[in-house]
Amino acid sequence: MGDLSAKDIGAVLSLTGRAKRGGGGLNRALAGKAVALIFEKSSTRTRLACEVAVSRLGGKAVTSAGADLQIGRGETMADSARIFSRFVDAVCWRTTGHDRLEEFASGASIPVINTLSDLEHPCQILADLFTIRERFGAGGRWPSVAYIGDGGNNMAHSWMLGAAVLGMDLRLAYPQNYQPDHTVRGRALKLAKASGAKLTFTNEPAEAAKGADVLYTDVWVSMGQEAGRAERLRQFRRYQVNAKLLGLASARAVVMHCLPAHRDEEISADVMDGKRSIVWDQAGNRLFSHMATLLWCFEGGTR
Ligand code: CP
Ligand code: NVA
Repeated sequence: MGDLSAKDIGAVLSLTGRAKRGGGGLNRALAGKAVALIFEKSSTRTRLACEVAVSRLGGKAVTSAGADLQIGRGETMADSARIFSRFVDAVCWRTTGHDRLEEFASGASIPVINTLSDLEHPCQILADLFTIRERFGAGGRWPSVAYIGDGGNNMAHSWMLGAAVLGMDLRLAYPQNYQPDHTVRGRALKLAKASGAKLTFTNEPAEAAKGADVLYTDVWVSMGQEAGRAERLRQFRRYQVNAKLLGLASARAVVMHCLPAHRDEEISADVMDGKRSIVWDQAGNRLFSHMATLLWCFEGGTR
């Protein structure tokens, strides 16, 4: 997320609006183009969003589970990337280690879109930013966001970097042993210095939530962390987004979650299903956001 400039993010958000409004020949934008979708981890929203986005833009999606490819049998990432670059026009890849994605990208001559790695989930943040604008309007300062939960997961990292690029007020509350990756934090602080973003790191959910316009959460046990589930549930108990926490937020506050959610773990069922929850709009916008990301890569992207 930190590789994108504020201008890049603005361009993707405006393309998201264009995709959501429809028309304008979008159904031919990817005509004759193929996009490979590789999923080495489970996915519902992202997979649907990617496949339907490519189809709505008139392209062809080719989906594989990583284990079905020779990547799973030892062909290097960079060699695989050279092959993909000869057959398709872009790759959307959900994987484990971020280094896999980087090695793949180093051998690719086509756009490679990170649809979630252990380190980052930028596509989700782009859709979230659009959803926040949709809710609060595009004028003026960005609403303040409190991210409550695992400070060291992909969502927290992408929020930190995205907020830092855009000059936002982002508060992160997480248990002491689940803090952001040191390198990501350093990078975010450097970007924040340049943009004027205010990044607050705390172990107190109430401190983060106080007066915030968006309360955001994610699962306490990300994909691949299942072995530590029992300990995580113990450590995170104090970090649930619930009515009490929402009561500390601003009068206009909304609740967001990238989903899938575990009701009554990281988010209480009443808040998830309540009037202030915009999680379904947020999920639905993933489609338009993926259309926009693809359009940006082909039409307006510079990297
Ligand atoms: N939010 C998100 O990426 O959901 P999926 O894991 O279902 O794709
Ligand atoms: N942090 C979560 C995000 C799921 C969309 C995970 O990696 O499982």
